[in-house]
Amino acid sequence: MSATSSSDRILNAGVLGATGTVGQRFIVLLSQNPMFRVHSLGASERSAGRPYRQATKWKMSDLMPEEVRDVVVKSCDPAHFAGCDVIFSGLDASVAGDIEKAFMESDFAVFSNAKNYRMVPNVPLCVPVVNTDHYSLIAAQRAEYGLKKGFIVTNSNCSTSGLVVPLKALQDKFGPLKRVIVTTLQAISGAGYPGVASLDILDNIVPLISGEEPKMEAEVLKILGGVNDGATACAPLADLRVSATCNRVPVVDGHTECVSLEFAGTPPPIEEIKQCLREYTCEAQELGCYSAPKQVITVTEEEDRPQPRLDRNAGEGMSVTVGRIRECPVFHVKFTLLVHNTVLGAAGASILNAEYAAKKRLI
Ligand SMILES: NC(=O)c1ccc[n+]([C@@H]2O[C@H](COP(=O)([O-])OP(=O)(O)OC[C@H]3O[C@@H](n4cnc5c(N)ncnc54)[C@H](OP(=O)(O)O)[C@@H]3O)[C@@H](O)[C@H]2O)c1
Repeated sequence: MSATSSSDRILNAGVLGATGTVGQRFIVLLSQNPMFRVHSLGASERSAGRPYRQATKWKMSDLMPEEVRDVVVKSCDPAHFAGCDVIFSGLDASVAGDIEKAFMESDFAVFSNAKNYRMVPNVPLCVPVVNTDHYSLIAAQRAEYGLKKGFIVTNSNCSTSGLVVPLKALQDKFGPLKRVIVTTLQAISGAGYPGVASLDILDNIVPLISGEEPKMEAEVLKILGGVNDGATACAPLADLRVSATCNRVPVVDGHTECVSLEFAGTPPPIEEIKQCLREYTCEAQELGCYSAPKQVITVTEEEDRPQPRLDRNAGEGMSVTVGRIRECPVFHVKFTLLVHNTVLGAAGASILNAEYAAKKRLI
């Protein structure tokens, strides 16, 4: 993590869905971030009117930060969030659509974790270590809604966010990819709280995460694609085929993904693939964004890594760990990756997206 520059302003942050799994991760990360001050917290009518410490079943291994304990949770009405420069949303998808739109139309900069707007053509679906070039869509979004400051930027699905990082590095260096097969082993925190019943997940693996596979297959194409001429809509990749199989496993945090891929052209040697992944850098690093990891991809040579308990906090949860990189007898190369699902896969990505937007004077 890099230091903030003297030109960085302190931004007032509102957190919607502040009581949930992603919301709690926002609270922890924002309390450690010199660029943001938590200003307002929102959740459902069940929580509104109560101090945060009472409204929240705190599940983080970090202690609840002192400064939020007595903050009174509000309902998610934009009028209650006056004074916020940026809105982070960890809202449940069943309510995120209407609420996030209301905030955007009230001219707030909204950074969402929900699926609702991810595939809208002029909404950046942005993994901030991969495709910050999609921020060029914001002008079209503002024009559509007649806004001066407001916009929505979404994160990807938590598994997608890990997968696209090595794919982007390889695509940039060696040209287009042709086919990708990914099998995920996803942590229970990815299902929110209370999430999966203990009797379903202890001593077990659940080979279905409803709706997850089509999301991954579509989001990868949007993120690894570009934007059209005029930057009015995204231009997803047309020639890459992605097949995802998603499983829930008894791990608290950290999604593991087993990936096999085929290049459109001649495959590079394995050593060059490793070097490419190690050397990958992104624009958020170049700009000195506080939450950008020093190493976007951590390549491990240990033969039995990555493992969720040992590797999920690489780069404070913002680095993707890739190991077991080897030739694939069916496609070209296969490897195992690990992504922290509530940091780079959710709240950490939103925060880095906002830092990037601030550096670009979009906030
Ligand atoms: N968990 C992950 O790893 C992950 C990763 C990427 C994306 N996501 C996405 O992020 C979002 C949040 O996920 P989560 O795992 O944090 O879920 P969660 O633990 O179930 O939290 C949901 C939050 O939404 C609030 N909420 C529910 N109904 C509401 C309403 N009617 N009005 C206002 N607020 C309401 C809840 O407030 P109350 O406490 O008051 O009910 C809570 O704060 C989802 O869209 C999810 O798909 C999650």
